[in-house]
Amino acid sequence: MAATKKQIHLSAFLNGVGHHVAAWRHPNVDPSGAIRFDAYRRVVALAEAAKFDAVFFADNLALPLAPPEQLSKGAVANFFEPSSLLFALAPLTTHIGLIATVSSTYMPPFHTARKFASLDHISGGRAGWNLVTSATDAEARNFGLKDQIGHQERYARAAEYVAVVKGLWKSWDKDPYLFDKESGRYFDPDKLHILDHEGTYYSVRGPLSLPPSPQGHPVIVQAGSSDDGQALAAQTAEMVFTAQPDLAAATAFATGLRARLAAFGRSADGIRIMPGLQPFVGETRAEAQAKFDTLQALIDPAVGLGLLYAMTGIRLSPDKLDEPVETLALNEGMQSRIALFSELGRGLTLRQLLLKVAGARGHWTVIGTPQEIADQIEAWIDAGAADGFNIMAPILPGGLEDFTRLVVPELIRRGRFRTGYETSTLRQHLGLSSEQ
Ligand SMILES: Cc1cc2nc3c(=O)[nH]c(=O)nc-3n(C[C@H](O)[C@H](O)[C@H](O)COP(=O)(O)O)c2cc1C
Repeated sequence: MAATKKQIHLSAFLNGVGHHVAAWRHPNVDPSGAIRFDAYRRVVALAEAAKFDAVFFADNLALPLAPPEQLSKGAVANFFEPSSLLFALAPLTTHIGLIATVSSTYMPPFHTARKFASLDHISGGRAGWNLVTSATDAEARNFGLKDQIGHQERYARAAEYVAVVKGLWKSWDKDPYLFDKESGRYFDPDKLHILDHEGTYYSVRGPLSLPPSPQGHPVIVQAGSSDDGQALAAQTAEMVFTAQPDLAAATAFATGLRARLAAFGRSADGIRIMPGLQPFVGETRAEAQAKFDTLQALIDPAVGLGLLYAMTGIRLSPDKLDEPVETLALNEGMQSRIALFSELGRGLTLRQLLLKVAGARGHWTVIGTPQEIADQIEAWIDAGAADGFNIMAPILPGGLEDFTRLVVPELIRRGRFRTGYETSTLRQHLGLSSEQ
């Protein structure tokens, strides 16, 4: 019997209108989608109907530090608090994993532990927490700081933060309840543990007010790719999102990250690496290319420069649009993304760079027929560059409809993707053990 081919995991990285910087201007996009719950409900239903492992909602705790005039040209100005979205979506879905970003720098760990444990109970074991350290001065200014906390310290705090959150998730042993109305004993006191964490950054007594959730604990996701980011991921993450522009970069990243797990006593199979993938799909290559070209033509260079600033913290002058891109100096922000943009900008003008990253912010972009895209997806999986992909539809709902209608059936035909949910929790969908 032929060996079962490695199965692909898929998550849908969602927002209200699509990931391309000009998505809201596309004729097939309703720009009000960013602030209408039914628009989110619809794309989540699409992903669940296609049997995706999860949906993911990112978060930023501020709008970019730009004048309203400049912000007024982009849909980035509007988005819901992501975990609130997930609590609203949980009762409207049955199997799909629900992942949201919460910042370890600006949200106390007790809140995060309780929020995701609650979501895991309410959703029947489908919660995932994307840990970010929040990498902009704009966010710092919403929490009483002038400038952001340094990169290294943010990650050092994050490592202790995860230990506190996981400690709180272990407040109760399994099956603590006695419900003995006769003796008046509600639970077995030996099954409740007080954390009493006293660390460098956090002092948290605990316990949490919730027993172990259906997954044991929610899935921990991480999206930092710098050396500090990878070290934290190797220690704590079960799922890793990353921006990798091509197969070689993605393979090097995945191989390097897996190799780090052993240092924390973890097996290389204890993590799912999910690079971002922005697909432009057409029945023909020309049709797919036309979809890409249509969006590229809608890019306003000022908005493109705004995106570069939001991602790098570096203000680049519109006067230099047709000059070669200078190397972007690292700062305390998103270090791997700054390095990636420098790399992508080698030999380009500033205008060419912003056109290159306007769609997928440095993530892998593929343009082609369903067969061509499935070929490349299989190549990444078989090269060990990925366990699956975080699908970043350029426009919503159209881009996700294209992918689920055209590419997913092709992956199924090739024996690479599930035809139905055989499992019920996110952890089970991903084939992750709960003992992590
Ligand atoms: C797919 C993906 C999703 C991300 N989502 C968020 C997010 O929701 N909020 C956020 O502040 N940062 C987000 N980030 C940025 C990371 O948290 C991190 O700051 C960035 O990857 C740079 O990490 P580094 O400084 O370790 O290189 C995301 C990154 C990726 C690749």
